[in-house]
Amino acid sequence: MIEVTTRSELAKARAGMAGRVGVVLTMGALHAGHAANLATARAECDHVLATIFVNPLQFGPTEDFGRYPRTLDADLALLREQGVDAVFRPAAEEIYPTGEPEVRVASGPLGTVLEGAHRPGHFDGVLTVVLKLLNLTAATVAYFGEKDYQQLTLIRAMVADLNVPTTIAAVPTVREPDGLALSSRNRYLSASDRSRASALSRALYAGAAAGPAGTDAVLGAARAHLDDLDVDYLALTDPALRTAPERGPARLLVAARVGGTRLIDNVGLTVGVA
Ligand code: PAJ
Repeated sequence: MIEVTTRSELAKARAGMAGRVGVVLTMGALHAGHAANLATARAECDHVLATIFVNPLQFGPTEDFGRYPRTLDADLALLREQGVDAVFRPAAEEIYPTGEPEVRVASGPLGTVLEGAHRPGHFDGVLTVVLKLLNLTAATVAYFGEKDYQQLTLIRAMVADLNVPTTIAAVPTVREPDGLALSSRNRYLSASDRSRASALSRALYAGAAAGPAGTDAVLGAARAHLDDLDVDYLALTDPALRTAPERGPARLLVAARVGGTRLIDNVGLTVGVA
């Protein structure tokens, strides 16, 4: 595996890659969820690129940028195990040479709801760095987890709206045996918070199971599992995150604080009779 830290080294490594190039963009602190994205890329592409960059632009002033877990040696070992050809792990100055960028991607109305309502500016920061990294890696396909469903939806919209020549592929959420979605932030959880955290996925699966009984039943069944948590939102939407569905394919999304840690999760479901 080639390790590169500058844009020119990345361009040189990329120039040696023929055929389909897959990329998985990450902030490091890698786990089996990241590994699933890498394994899918490995299975579908001739070459696999990974990036590790904790993007300051997507963290709010009171969020965890400073203490976000940084586990480089373990990350590199996981990337090697997954057969990654090259990893780009730039310093902030390499990505933002002038400091805060003058121009950014505006995520629009979809960037202001759900996660966006609780994390102002977050998705503008995500889309700006994702566009930069897609431009720099010039990947054929970029793989993103359904775990961050609103992020995935906005990246798909950006690529369509701005004619970005990379295909976006979605990878199903990888979970712990008790249902908790893997996340780099799970390592912040104390033992008692960790056991309470499984309520998020239990709520989502209970909601999905109540799908045939309609929207109120879905939300009621899910809410019954969330009494002990500090919930930011529980939302039932259409798969594009635009409207509240009466029936048909839908998405159920939740965000909650467990101890000091903010966790998100979502599942697909069918409401009413499809
Ligand atoms: P990060 O949280 O490191 O996630 C990197 C990728 O791994 C994302 O596409 C995310 O959806 C996926 N992922 C995380 N947990 C997963 C799980 N349990 N199962 C499947 N996939 C999972 O998301 C980001 O970084 C950043 O916002 C980024 C896109 C890199 C831009 O900075």
